[in-house]
Amino acid sequence: MAEKNVTGYSTIQIVLHWLIVAAVLFQLIFGESMTNVVEALEEGNAPGAADLQLSSAHLWVGIAILFMLAIRLAIRVFTGAPEVIGAPGLATLAATAMHWLFYALLVIVPVTGLLAKYVGDPWGDIHTIGKPVFIVLIVLHAAAALYHHFVLKDETLVRMIRPRNS
Ligand code: HEM
Ligand code: HEM
Repeated sequence: MAEKNVTGYSTIQIVLHWLIVAAVLFQLIFGESMTNVVEALEEGNAPGAADLQLSSAHLWVGIAILFMLAIRLAIRVFTGAPEVIGAPGLATLAATAMHWLFYALLVIVPVTGLLAKYVGDPWGDIHTIGKPVFIVLIVLHAAAALYHHFVLKDETLVRMIRPRNS
């Protein structure tokens, strides 16, 4: 997809980026509540009250992620996103690949979660693989953002905080 010639992210793109970050972290931290409920029901036990509440939140936060992502992708297609900062090469290619991998994961993980809930095996196991994959990508992505900010001292992190003026 061709990058449009924009110089930064808009307010809505920035807000959605950080809301999705918060929602994904919530899912990663409390996702095991879902596993606990599934296991309790399989073993014929009553799930704990906290697990029941958190697993209900897991479903709705997951659906919210899908909605926010749909808006974000639509904006990206129609108004574009700035090009990765840096000379074209392996690093900028890796950054672009990382961004599209995130978008793919943000669709695949909630959809396999829905399949795990409403269809069953083997989707639960497939959905669970999303956890380590997400963690590795987030660590790499956040480390890259901090490297841009503190070592390369460029605008990469700042432009995901401060919207462009237009
Ligand atoms: C980006 C969104 C999501 C993330 C990051 C996520 C993450 C997780 C994590 C970390 C677990 C626990 C895995 C473990 O026990 O180690 C889990 C389990 C589970 N999640 Fe999600 N989830 C998301 C969306 C959803 C959605 C929308 C649903 C729909 C109901 C869902 C349904 C489930 C189910 C059923 C389990 C239990 C799987 C099993 O034990 O078989 N998830 N999820
Ligand atoms: C769940 C965690 C995260 C997800 C799913 C995520 C996803 C994304 C995606 C898809 C983009 C590309 C935006 C586009 O051009 O369309 C992006 C950009 C960016 N993210 Fe994240 N992100 C996450 C966490 C973080 C964290 C923790 C930081 C900071 C430490 C961060 C900093 C940035 C920055 C600075 C950019 C802009 C890159 C650029 O302009 O070239 N992200 N993120």
